[in-house]
Amino acid sequence: MNHSSTAQTLLIWVLVLIAFSGVELGEAKCEFKGIFNFGDSNSDTGGFWAAFPAQSPPFGMTYFKKPVGRATDGRLIVDFLAQALGLPFVSPYLKSIGSDFRHGANFATLASTVMLPNTSLFVTGISPFSLAIQLNQLKQFKVEVDQHYHSAHGTKGSKLPSPSIFGKSLYTFYIGQNDFTSDLASLGVNGIKSFLPKVVSQIAYTIKDIYALGGRTFLVLNLAPIGCYPSFLVRLPHNSSDIDEFGCMISYNNAVADYNDMLKEALSNIRPDLPGASVVYVDTHAVLLDLFRHPTSHGLKYGTKACCGHGGGAYNYHAQVYCGESKVINGQKLSARACNDPQNYVSWDGIHATEAANRLTTYAILNGSNSDPPFPLHQFCDLQPIG
Ligand SMILES: *[C@@H]1O[C@H](CO)[C@@H](O)[C@H](O)[C@H]1NC(C)=O
Ligand SMILES: *[C@@H]1O[C@H](CO)[C@@H](O)[C@H](O)[C@H]1NC(C)=O
Ligand SMILES: *[C@@H]1O[C@H](CO)[C@@H](O)[C@H](O)[C@H]1NC(C)=O
Repeated sequence: MNHSSTAQTLLIWVLVLIAFSGVELGEAKCEFKGIFNFGDSNSDTGGFWAAFPAQSPPFGMTYFKKPVGRATDGRLIVDFLAQALGLPFVSPYLKSIGSDFRHGANFATLASTVMLPNTSLFVTGISPFSLAIQLNQLKQFKVEVDQHYHSAHGTKGSKLPSPSIFGKSLYTFYIGQNDFTSDLASLGVNGIKSFLPKVVSQIAYTIKDIYALGGRTFLVLNLAPIGCYPSFLVRLPHNSSDIDEFGCMISYNNAVADYNDMLKEALSNIRPDLPGASVVYVDTHAVLLDLFRHPTSHGLKYGTKACCGHGGGAYNYHAQVYCGESKVINGQKLSARACNDPQNYVSWDGIHATEAANRLTTYAILNGSNSDPPFPLHQFCDLQPIG
């Protein structure tokens, strides 16, 4: 055999090996095959609006070009995470049309809480889908997956994953903000402190329960600095001495920081009980606080001013006219419209972050250096660009 035919034979063998190795060229390698998310509007990819139609523009304007059930102009952190891991967007568990659960499910809904089990949504403004309900939905989902897998047809063609996914997924939590804020105006910072320990222990309990189902990797995002949010700056009682040099409310932000410390401790307390698991406290608060304080250092322009709102000024937020609404108040028609440049804002509608802020926050999550313990995702996956 001469050199060139040896080379040709080698080349053919390499091609044959590639063809039979099952590795699709260009497909990302990732240890995580799916995402199961628990949360509120900050990570709801369409569950709430599937249950209670329908959402109106300008939601979705930046990326989807129409309302798609997300409380922002584009993608959420959970969307960017999915994209970075090379996974499709996570389908809402409650969405019966067009959903695909082969890479996980999203149990988050707008207005969800960890603790408050109050089902009178239209009285209290709180979603019936609390964390305990979301956990039950995961359990039911797993029952269905196992049943399908062991049935004659298996999970083929069912848009369901194989049961092995439960041990190979990221379980993400971004919830607690509504427990923190729903009674904040009436009870004050000291009034809510009494039940916050119950909130963090319920999150810890939920993680233990999912561990028992086979879950091993848990990312728990902490609470955002709500003292910098335009809606809370307008709606929560405070006086000017409570405003810091960045325009944020000191007392409320300190209370969030205390809650976050409690959450961090609750997570470190359960780690010894969960051998082989990663229970990661993700400090998204630090990232968002820095965006509100120094928007221009991150390529943004506005901190405590909402893109979509009414009234202009420092906050562009009107307590009675929410983003997308038009109302007659005192004989005057007031409309809350979107700005033309959401990419320059941290706050989309006074309550939720913009896609731009969500992308920057996701970069920090992927990096992993402000997580406890540090959790750089590139160690587990070939990360995909999230432009
Ligand atoms: C549930 O909502 C009703 C009506 O607002 C209220 O009277 C009740 O106290 C709430 N229950 C809980 C547990 O929050
Ligand atoms: C406003 O500040 C004064 C002086 O620090 C304080 O006594 C008062 O309780 C504050 N009011 C509110 C609503 O925080
Ligand atoms: C994560 O961020 C730190 C601090 O900004 C930086 O030094 C490090 O290179 C980053 N790591 C990755 C993988 O991007």
